[in-house]
Amino acid sequence: MNDASNISYTDKINFALDYIRQKFNAPLDVGIILGTGLGQLINNIEIELEISYQEIPYFPVSTVESHKGKLIIGKLSGKSVVAMQGRFHYYEGYSMKEVTFPVRVMKKLGIQYLFVSNAAGGLNPDFGIGDMMIINDHIDLFPENPLRGKNLDEFGVRFPDMSEPYDLSLIQKALKIAEANQIHVHQGVYAAVQGPNLETKAEYNYLRVIGGDAIGMSTIPEVIVARHMDIPVFAISAITDLCSPGNIKKVRIEEVLAAAAKAEPGMSLIIRELVKLV
Ligand code: HPA
Repeated sequence: MNDASNISYTDKINFALDYIRQKFNAPLDVGIILGTGLGQLINNIEIELEISYQEIPYFPVSTVESHKGKLIIGKLSGKSVVAMQGRFHYYEGYSMKEVTFPVRVMKKLGIQYLFVSNAAGGLNPDFGIGDMMIINDHIDLFPENPLRGKNLDEFGVRFPDMSEPYDLSLIQKALKIAEANQIHVHQGVYAAVQGPNLETKAEYNYLRVIGGDAIGMSTIPEVIVARHMDIPVFAISAITDLCSPGNIKKVRIEEVLAAAAKAEPGMSLIIRELVKLV
């Protein structure tokens, strides 16, 4: 997307859309963004079409090794879904418009709901490694906002409301699913920073003091853009490391991935069952 042409952002969205539509032209119900180590949910999808990001005009291309970079279209729990296997992070160097480009495209593909997962550090002292947290609010500490600049009126309003970014009825349904399946889940506030370095002890303290239960480097931009377009959002974090004040250790990426894998079965189950209910 770094070409020098003066093609507008909305034209780029439409080019990407047309490309996908040429290959798959049925309505899609749910968009899913799969975060670090949580790609296994794909195994539950009856895949109808896979498109590598590189093929799609103007789509950003993922650079983090643990991300694969494919759009997967198929059936999950009887619903038509489009899943992103691999997402774009601000720390990779993309602008917020690039990070959120796929969400705009998914809206044009017809999605009625957006489900998001991520890996996050646990700030809340009650959290353990491999736990799950349903996100019920967020604190945006990114230095850039995906809605900055001329408003895209065809998608939403200039000043979108953020008093309830995470859909309450989806949260309630997810809690019931977790209870029925004896899966232990937390609820809490996800704070996000640009990364890519992890936080200092003083920063972890600060993030807890300002109200964060978990800390990560993603999700909020996509959620803001989804809410700009009035798409109900459900988001869930796998707690991959503990960083509550007094409990901070060095974080290794291998441990983050192993902890995400531990949360994966429960997370997949919640998302699968929730997709059934929407
Ligand atoms: N900080 C920021 N992002 C993260 C962390 C963390 O401790 N763990 C996983 N993603």
